[in-house]
Amino acid sequence: MKNYRVGVIGCTGMVGQRFVTLIDQHPWFDLKVVAASARSAGKTYEEAIGSRWKIDTPMPESAKKLVVMDATGDIEKIVSQVDFVFSAVDMKKEEIQALEEAYAKHECPVVSNNSAHRWTPDVPMIIPEVNPEHLAVIHDQKKRLGTKRGFIAVKSNCSIQTYVPALSPLMGKYPIEKILVCTYQAISGAGKTFESWPEMLDNVIPFIGGEEEKSEREPLKVWGKVENGVIVSAAEPSITAQCIRVPVSNGHMGAVFVKFKDTKPSREEMIKTWAAYKGRPQELKLPSAPEQFLQYFAEDNRPQTGMDRMLGNGMTVSIGRLREDTQYDYKFVSLAHNTLRGAAGGAVELAELLCAEGWMD
Ligand SMILES: NC(=O)c1ccc[n+]([C@@H]2O[C@H](COP(=O)([O-])OP(=O)(O)OC[C@H]3O[C@@H](n4cnc5c(N)ncnc54)[C@H](OP(=O)(O)O)[C@@H]3O)[C@@H](O)[C@H]2O)c1
Repeated sequence: MKNYRVGVIGCTGMVGQRFVTLIDQHPWFDLKVVAASARSAGKTYEEAIGSRWKIDTPMPESAKKLVVMDATGDIEKIVSQVDFVFSAVDMKKEEIQALEEAYAKHECPVVSNNSAHRWTPDVPMIIPEVNPEHLAVIHDQKKRLGTKRGFIAVKSNCSIQTYVPALSPLMGKYPIEKILVCTYQAISGAGKTFESWPEMLDNVIPFIGGEEEKSEREPLKVWGKVENGVIVSAAEPSITAQCIRVPVSNGHMGAVFVKFKDTKPSREEMIKTWAAYKGRPQELKLPSAPEQFLQYFAEDNRPQTGMDRMLGNGMTVSIGRLREDTQYDYKFVSLAHNTLRGAAGGAVELAELLCAEGWMD
């Protein structure tokens, strides 16, 4: 695989820092540009970050001396130095939409962690192991944008990565009628640590703005179909979600209840399906693809956030406690690292898929 020159816009934020760290160790990607707001522009990356470094490994040496560019003011300069950008900016929705489109229109592909374009009908929202076929819609998006190589591809919200991966491999054979899910979400999902959010110690907050709507709607786009140049969301299953913030640094846990439509699989079949499942990233042996995408634990007390979130370098989804339910067919728990599988790691895997399938050339 050839090497790609990469930029990170929103490089100083929590997700941006993860991107910088993952790219530093990446076999295909070279970090050439870091960009953030005008407040950070002109400083070295090290100066711009100051005391804000939130990753548990040190800042990569290769990034320290890069001079931060202005993500909105320096677009032409940035696109001339990179093959594509990762986007993780925190701005108003309309501003992010306009910014990401501006990069795409400058013929620079954008792999975005932001929610701004998730509902743009010709922007694919990808979990690489689940719906890689949605990338086909990029042809139509490019026609709309009038571009040859520029486009936007996004990843889904972190909360849905706890239950969509587990349910997807079952759905082809056993259609699902309804899902009930409660998510127990880490504070890094709000860009916070215990230092910056001490109120979260010994505390649970029963509200995360906008999260329940995303958790109920986004799976339907992921499970949708490409039709006439847009992605048409699936009409079912019906999903209801409650999302709760818990005092955990990293790792979202989901408690999932599922009712199948006509026939239900046996418990053994579900576990066998998870163990055997391989997506396109595993077939292509993408650098970020975990060998085991779905890991089932037989122990009653697993998966545990602290113990299991880093499985597969934070890219494996762990499942446990599968049992029959009195109101639904089954219930189980599942765990996904929210800033790796659920954010920067998922976006890096998406970029790898785009490279491997020729979209970045
Ligand atoms: N944290 C997570 O786990 C997570 C998960 C999924 C999605 N997200 C989404 O990812 C995005 C980033 O999240 P985060 O937690 O990393 O946010 P964050 O820590 O607040 O960082 C925000 C980044 O955006 C930059 N920025 C702010 N205003 C800007 C402007 N006007 N022009 C250019 N850059 C600007 C900031 O640069 P300065 O330092 O220069 O201000 C910083 O680099 C958000 O949209 C968030 O909703 C986060």
